[in-house]
Amino acid sequence: MKMFVKAVLCATALTAAAAPAVAEDFAFKDQIEARQGYFQMVKFNMGVLGEMAKGKRDYDADLAQAIANNLKNAGAMDNSLMWPKGSDMDADGLSGHTKAKADIWQADSEVGAKFEDFAAATETMAANAGQGLDALRGAIGPLGKSCKSCHTDYRAK
Ligand code: HEC
Repeated sequence: MKMFVKAVLCATALTAAAAPAVAEDFAFKDQIEARQGYFQMVKFNMGVLGEMAKGKRDYDADLAQAIANNLKNAGAMDNSLMWPKGSDMDADGLSGHTKAKADIWQADSEVGAKFEDFAAATETMAANAGQGLDALRGAIGPLGKSCKSCHTDYRAK
């Protein structure tokens, strides 16, 4: 009996694991997952600096510098291939898969400028993070604002 239950559970687990690959197929899947993964990585690094700024993690100049360098490198990436036209949340079949607003691709879009602001803020962070806790704290506000400014206009709630 035990064996049987185990076998059934295993079979169910296998089916469950295999199913999403088919069911979750949608247009621009690779690009959408890449940009969301990119932002998760950015958020993770940002979180470490945030913890130091708030005193929830001991300030460590070497670690702060390394993390800030990660963010600077992220800001220097050319991500254009992750943002193909038609991969917005209103496109057919993409609801629930992306929060990218269609305004990103409008002619008057300021998304490029907002990304530049983010990249500049990561450079300022990289110049300050290893120079002491106060320097890190001074750079984190503008960096956080650069995220928020883009999300307010171009990412759905
Ligand atoms: C130039 C615009 C822009 C900037 C700058 C920006 N974001 Fe985003 N972010 C977006 C958009 C658009 C999405 C939605 C992507 C999607 O769902 O396809 C997003 C999604 C995210 C997500 C969710 C990813 C997921 O798993 O779906 C996180 C977390 C995030 N951003 C964090 C940040 C942080 C932290 C910063 C700043 C350090 C930042 N973002 C800067 C535009 C931006």
